[in-house]
Amino acid sequence: MKVLVVGGGGREHAICWKLKQSPRVTELFCAPGNGGIAEIATCVPISAIALDEMVDYAVKEKFDLVFVAPDDPLALGLVDRLEKAGVRAYGPHANAAIIEASKSFSKNLMKKYGIPTANYEIFSDKQLALDYLDKQDMPIVIKADGLALGKGVIIAATKEEAGNAVISMMEDQKFGNAGKTVVIEECMSGPELTVLAFSDGITVLPMISSRDHKRAFDRDLGKNTGGMGAVTPGADLSPQEEKYMFDAIFLPTIQALSAEGRPFIGVIYFGLMLTATGPRVIEYNARFGDPEAQAVLPRLNNDLMDIIDACMNQTLDQVQLSWKPGASCCVVMASGGYPDAYQTGYEITGIQDTGRIVFHAGTKIVGQKVVTSGGRVLCVYADAPSMEEAIDSAYAGVSRISFKDMHFRRDIGRTLPGGKD
Ligand code: AMP
Ligand code: GLY
Repeated sequence: MKVLVVGGGGREHAICWKLKQSPRVTELFCAPGNGGIAEIATCVPISAIALDEMVDYAVKEKFDLVFVAPDDPLALGLVDRLEKAGVRAYGPHANAAIIEASKSFSKNLMKKYGIPTANYEIFSDKQLALDYLDKQDMPIVIKADGLALGKGVIIAATKEEAGNAVISMMEDQKFGNAGKTVVIEECMSGPELTVLAFSDGITVLPMISSRDHKRAFDRDLGKNTGGMGAVTPGADLSPQEEKYMFDAIFLPTIQALSAEGRPFIGVIYFGLMLTATGPRVIEYNARFGDPEAQAVLPRLNNDLMDIIDACMNQTLDQVQLSWKPGASCCVVMASGGYPDAYQTGYEITGIQDTGRIVFHAGTKIVGQKVVTSGGRVLCVYADAPSMEEAIDSAYAGVSRISFKDMHFRRDIGRTLPGGKD
């Protein structure tokens, strides 16, 4: 099969790495790709959101499958466009990807179908939002409705902070159109957990759980980022807890989307909080998480292409996922300054010496050198029989790599985001 992966971060490197192992994938392309992906796939300089160009290219090259991995092209309807042009494409259609692209849509869906989540109100009028805040207890959570690179969520400790968040989103349009509507919701507490799942629209097949570390600095300090590292498993869940999540959250979500005429075919991301009253949904994403994909996919024994086919043929009920036992850890190495402004173009050394799988996120090849080209630069992966060993092994890899101003957290897997150390 001739396959194109759309995207160019660490997640797409992990997807390409996994697809490359499939004997069924004979030719692998990635658009736009990055310096690491270029070692295993042919990179094509088309932006993931250049939909017209991507569709023309996919038609011309006669791909057997296009895997659309990032949120933006999914929300913009790249899968719909490719299908219309006669190209098989993997990922949710825009009408299902909306569970990530519109928080108000997903909150209303959860309310309608009784899926546990934080209580909330939705506002498109700034004054009504401010009046509402006045009557609420703090802390409270303010969310821009649309896609905002994971930055459109403010947890306000005081009414002043909450009011400022509403004004920055609704009046100053800090997140552009994404913040025209805001969701104001109850602040939950508890450890966070990610569960990714394959879905064919009817069956939902959860993967091993994972846990992302979103804050920039150790001990969960600093700003929210795209994710600074992840581990699997994300929690020690009992079979009863797993069953509850499946029965109360995973399956009802997939059934709700189908009932609404929006069958979800692809990878769905359940961002959960394990609260004192049970697991509740923080958010849905319509794709693999980044860096969760890098921590999860190397432990998957199945051929990813077989699972993709089963999703697209509605035969996922016949698939059983199999996992390499133990635990995994991946540590993101970022450019100094990320998630704010940072410099790029610095040479990276030592990747070959790590003896680890190193997924590239923001790199490019210049001459013979690998140089930094983004905020998140690399993701160093290791697995082992125990979590402690996996973490130590990943950090042993990190210690061999060097580039100017590099920044990484030293506590990935060692602290519990939203929980205690
Ligand atoms: P989201 O983009 O919705 O996943 O939110 C980003 C982060 O904000 C989450 O990973 C949580 O740490 C935090 N967060 C979002 N919603 C809530 C909530 N209702 N209560 C507490 N924390 C939240
Ligand atoms: N790691 C969080 C995300 O992919 O949205």
